[in-house]
Amino acid sequence: MLRTKTCGELNISNVSEEITLSGWVQKNRDLGGMTFVDLRDRYGITQLAFNMHENSDLCEKARKLGREFVIQVNGEVIERSSKNTNISTGEIEIKVTELTLLNASKTPPFTIEDETDGGDELRMKYRYLDIRRAPIKENIILRSRVASETRKYLDARGFYEIETPYLIKSTPEGARDFVVPSRMNEGQFYALPQSPQTFKQLLMVAGMDKYYQIVRCFRDEDLRADRQPEFTQIDCEMAFVEQEDILNMFEGLTRHLLKEVKNVEVSDFPRMTYDEAMKMYGSDKPDIRFGMKFIEMNDVCQQNDFVVFDSAELVVGINVKGGSSFTRKELDTITDFVKTPQIGAKGLVYCKCNEDGTFKSSVDKFFSQEDLNNWADKCKSSAGDLILVMAGETEKTRKALSNLRLHLAEKLGLRNSDAFAPLWVLDFPLLEWDEETEKYHAMHHPFTSPKQNDIEKLDTDPSRVRANAYDLVLNGNEIGGGSIRIHDKDLQKLMFKHLGFTEEQAKEQFGFLMDAFEYGAPPHGGVAFGFDRLCAIMGGQESIRDFIAFPKNNSGRDVMIDSPANIDEEQLKELNIKLQK
Ligand code: AMO
Repeated sequence: MLRTKTCGELNISNVSEEITLSGWVQKNRDLGGMTFVDLRDRYGITQLAFNMHENSDLCEKARKLGREFVIQVNGEVIERSSKNTNISTGEIEIKVTELTLLNASKTPPFTIEDETDGGDELRMKYRYLDIRRAPIKENIILRSRVASETRKYLDARGFYEIETPYLIKSTPEGARDFVVPSRMNEGQFYALPQSPQTFKQLLMVAGMDKYYQIVRCFRDEDLRADRQPEFTQIDCEMAFVEQEDILNMFEGLTRHLLKEVKNVEVSDFPRMTYDEAMKMYGSDKPDIRFGMKFIEMNDVCQQNDFVVFDSAELVVGINVKGGSSFTRKELDTITDFVKTPQIGAKGLVYCKCNEDGTFKSSVDKFFSQEDLNNWADKCKSSAGDLILVMAGETEKTRKALSNLRLHLAEKLGLRNSDAFAPLWVLDFPLLEWDEETEKYHAMHHPFTSPKQNDIEKLDTDPSRVRANAYDLVLNGNEIGGGSIRIHDKDLQKLMFKHLGFTEEQAKEQFGFLMDAFEYGAPPHGGVAFGFDRLCAIMGGQESIRDFIAFPKNNSGRDVMIDSPANIDEEQLKELNIKLQK
């Protein structure tokens, strides 16, 4: 047997047992009379002890072990004289009687420690070494647990996991497709699914009633910390449901996962409309772990001859609790931050609510103490608070203030990664104006049903048509989205028309779905969670990369296997592809 125990399970109750362990050499300390080796496997670290006086040959052998050598030892569990209370095996060590070298190792290119000296690219190139580090390993294990608890929850509620194909044709999620040439169908290409959207709807027509799949999706879009070109969804669909049924089912899943995996009971699971979210937080994915809600201040800010405010469509502020202690320099830094090109604001007005009841603002020239007192009343500010105000065109101003709100929360330590604040954002607009194509396109996807009462606005005021569409937000991140679908072919035709599809184009792209809708499509709807994002947030991070075993870098490359790569002439010829030089 290569091992009888793992490196994470021995403790004081095992003292005097004879055991066999296998693992990697984490560290080797030669103290003259004694040599200590930390032996690591997935389960933990156990200290091995070699005594020069008792067995010099064995001790010599141990001294020569390099980092990451793979070894096997036999020995006896003994109590340690100097205990390490930080690890579960810290009270014992192994008095080794036999040491076998199973495999040597080159010196790793970076330290296999919690805090490594390896940069991102190096860690990606040697990802198999990176995964040996506890923080990455824990993320991958967390991911597996989230998947398994997801299956448990959904299986218990009558969902079936059904696979859908990867070699398909373009799906309508709005990103670019990755395509795969077909050898047998010259000049033709498959597209990899951006999501299984159309297939899950077909499964509802097929009567499967409750579907889910933990499924890979592919989107050729610009990468960010929370985006990968291939990522995973918990994709779900239900038949004979209304929005309320879906919200309850997946609020339940979110609660279940947080309870089982993080031991966190979520007390509040609020819902707000898209319009409310934009008005109160300037974002469709508000982080509600902290306050600083927006206060619209046009009525107390305008008509004081301050042209920046007077000419603005919206004057909006936030109250920063205890913020009056910010120094001039800190306020300047915050102002510089909002003026950076990515935030794009022209400026920021502040008003300190001093402890003595007076006010000090950056616009004292225009606003009297009484005016500023009105601001404070409006913002429900107390002595010691700071009011920050922005003004301008509504959408842009809200966006900038939203960025500032998050920036301040970060600075003030309010984005606690151990706290979990989920919410539903409801009633998204159905359509979005695209400046580039000068056309409306579906904000979610073209199968999302409009709100019944808004259908008539499709012709008169398309931007105001709301959809039966919802997003699940966790700690300021969009971790899921879904909708009630259109199941009526006439309404679907109308939607395609409004999205600028000719009848031929609609038929060409989605004819199969329209055909299926001719055969008794049930009312249905669903949701897809971004599984990588969910895992990252549950793991206390916003970047998904370290929650994926083998991710791509920022240019979409896998630097370990070096892909994408050229293919040889022969393969190109077989596929009938001519590269333009
Ligand atoms: P949507 O496009 O909103 O909806 O995707 C669902 C969720 O997937 C996650 N996500 C991503 N995660 C990592 N990298 C990416 N590139 C990426 N793109 C999206 C997000 C998002 O909320 N078919 C619909 C769902 C439905 O209507 O049922 C869909 O795919 O967390």
